[in-house]
Amino acid sequence: MNLAVSYTFVLTTYVVFNLIFGLSSTMPVHSSYQIKVFFPEERDALMQIRDSVSSTLDLHGNWTGPPCNQNLGRWAGIICSNWHVVGLVLEGIQLTGSLPPTFLQNISFLANLSFRNNSIYGPLPNLSNLVSLESVFFSYNRFTGPIPSEYIELPNLKQLELQQNYLDGEIPPFDQPTLTLFQCVL
Ligand SMILES: *[C@@H]1O[C@H](CO)[C@@H](O)[C@H](O)[C@H]1NC(C)=O
Ligand SMILES: *[C@@H]1O[C@H](CO)[C@@H](O)[C@H](O)[C@H]1NC(C)=O
Ligand SMILES: *[C@@H]1O[C@H](CO)[C@@H](O)[C@H](O)[C@H]1NC(C)=O
Ligand SMILES: *[C@@H]1O[C@H](CO)[C@@H](O)[C@H](O)[C@H]1NC(C)=O
Ligand SMILES: *[C@@H]1O[C@H](CO)[C@@H](O)[C@H](O)[C@H]1NC(C)=O
Repeated sequence: MNLAVSYTFVLTTYVVFNLIFGLSSTMPVHSSYQIKVFFPEERDALMQIRDSVSSTLDLHGNWTGPPCNQNLGRWAGIICSNWHVVGLVLEGIQLTGSLPPTFLQNISFLANLSFRNNSIYGPLPNLSNLVSLESVFFSYNRFTGPIPSEYIELPNLKQLELQQNYLDGEIPPFDQPTLTLFQCVL
């Protein structure tokens, strides 16, 4: 995984001449590094969703620069840990549109994912390889089609909410021992 780092070197120089006494001058130099780190694959994945949906939040205005500042999310709905995006929580903001099918797969450390209470339509996203996922909330949307069978392979899944959508087909044979909450009505 690539790590992108950009440095903004801020040098502020104050020059103060003591003209009253004419004998001494002071020149304090104040400098600081502002380091910006992000993982390009994670950011690119988030750009894909930003550009696929509309919402009541101005994601184009807000999701700029790096998504994380170490353990703090800089973007609305983004939760971070050690510069990685670990949570994506966008609830009740009238997210409208269809998700790019595989856009989440590069957010490798994603643990919490919620799109609860929006207007997302089309198929549920592919969550293959997201081995850290613990909570997945897609309830109260307009998703259609089957529950992807690869959801049964998420090894740390604890909570999965899919109710209040327009899903069909069979419920795959979930048997993760971690799974304590599963809500779905087909
Ligand atoms: C984006 O939104 C978050 C949370 O609402 C806010 O803290 C942050 O300052 C915003 N950033 C920009 C660039 O607007
Ligand atoms: C769902 O989102 C709408 C805004 O789009 C909000 O008014 C409503 O309270 C939310 N409902 C729930 C159950 O959170
Ligand atoms: C994931 O990241 C890799 C490397 O940047 C890129 O080639 C690939 O297209 C990305 N996958 C998705 C699903 O966006
Ligand atoms: C995921 O959310 C749960 C509760 O909503 C929280 O306890 C947990 O710390 C979160 N995980 C991460 C990695 O943010
Ligand atoms: C989901 O993504 C994985 C890895 O990219 C791929 O192997 C699998 O075929 C995809 N599943 C579907 C149903 O497209």
